[in-house]
Amino acid sequence: MSKFITFEGVDGAGKSTHLAWFADVLRRRGLDVVVTREPGGTPLGEQLREILLNRNMSIGTEALLMFAARLEHIEQVIKPALLAGKWVISDRFSDASFAYQGGGRGLNWEKLSQLEQWVHPDLQPDLTLFFDVPVEVARQRLRAPASTRPDNVSLDRFEQEQADFFERVRAGYHRRVQEHPQRYIVIDAAQTLEKVKQKLEEIISII
Ligand code: TYD
Repeated sequence: MSKFITFEGVDGAGKSTHLAWFADVLRRRGLDVVVTREPGGTPLGEQLREILLNRNMSIGTEALLMFAARLEHIEQVIKPALLAGKWVISDRFSDASFAYQGGGRGLNWEKLSQLEQWVHPDLQPDLTLFFDVPVEVARQRLRAPASTRPDNVSLDRFEQEQADFFERVRAGYHRRVQEHPQRYIVIDAAQTLEKVKQKLEEIISII
């Protein structure tokens, strides 16, 4: 049976590292797993990602481009894989738009709900893992020298934001957790990597 799982968290929470490990464990169990990400996941989506991460734009444009990339991603990657019985694990999905554009940038929550209804009225993740961490911890991880960070690149437009932006992003995620408690698992990502892995193993044993 296919499953759609999303990973969420503020920048620096460590979700991408955990996602790679989580997908490996599932594959070793013989599951057919598609790993993808947002914004991105398709050739057009990756071009939109370049723009979104590097070019200044109005808040509304930012939200619309996020959802434009998402529509392409759903049609080209997510739905076909789920229909073929695969497991899809996405590094971020619509919850990130609510958290970043809604919480972080202050875009009207209702407008985002309308976009969500338009772009994926009949699709929600089966499970969302939210890597929750105090903003100060996440900021410290991001401030580590580029050469020691996993992706070894400089900070993008979102990562350059100040702590108060990330406090609002985190609050946006908490609001989403309250609105959709049935599909969320909140993981304390301030713990050591080993502790988080243990928690992920527990989760894998019950899904
Ligand atoms: P991220 O997963 O952090 O990429 P990386 O780990 O390679 O830095 O995602 C890129 C940024 O995009 C991140 O700062 C959050 C932002 N974002 C939004 O603002 N809204 C969205 O809907 C999505 C999917 C991402």
